[in-house]
Amino acid sequence: MATPNHTVRFVLDEEIVTVRNIEPTTTLLQYLRQSLGRTGTKEGCAEGDCGACTVVVGELDGDRIDYQAVNACIRFLPTLDGKEVVTVESLAEGEALHPVQQAMVDKHGSQCGFCTPGFVMSLLDVYLKHEQITAAAITEHLSGNLCRCTGYRPIIDAGRGLAAYPDPPRWHRAEPHNPARIQRLRSIRPRRGGAKRRVLCPDLTGCARHNLCG
Ligand code: FES
Ligand code: FES
Repeated sequence: MATPNHTVRFVLDEEIVTVRNIEPTTTLLQYLRQSLGRTGTKEGCAEGDCGACTVVVGELDGDRIDYQAVNACIRFLPTLDGKEVVTVESLAEGEALHPVQQAMVDKHGSQCGFCTPGFVMSLLDVYLKHEQITAAAITEHLSGNLCRCTGYRPIIDAGRGLAAYPDPPRWHRAEPHNPARIQRLRSIRPRRGGAKRRVLCPDLTGCARHNLCG
């Protein structure tokens, strides 16, 4: 775990972000919204229950990158050292929406819109992991996202229809094997030999969703 005197480096939109002298309790959500002005990631409950703050975090796993949806409101920034962060602002290429965004539009999966960036990022997690997206996979990946407007059906329909969209220019299914992304992460890989990180999951379960346990 970094202390206020240590440096945290992570990748965001193909750039390496270097953060110095950060308080260990600064959350990824606070840093994205307040320091980087990335307000597309929303704060709802601020305690890991609603999914409004969902982003995707990538971590080297051998010669691939493992991408996971995480709740940015309970993810401390120092735990991102050596990792990649993907936010809702990372997806569109100019005016062209990513399939997970376009499908939400086409299926009317957004009403007030507050939950939408979180759902979009959970759908990206599903999209990157599954060639054939089943209803069960969608239900599982969206289980941490709450919506009080839509009744969920159009959002699930958006997920089920993802296979019909052409591959996007970025954040397509081959990204976990993208050599440039892998090389970038290797270049900021934290050195071994430090004290072993130990951060307890808020639910004390070590679940993949919170992804805090080290
Ligand atoms: S703001 Fe609700 S889970 Fe993060
Ligand atoms: S669209 Fe309003 S909370 Fe989901």
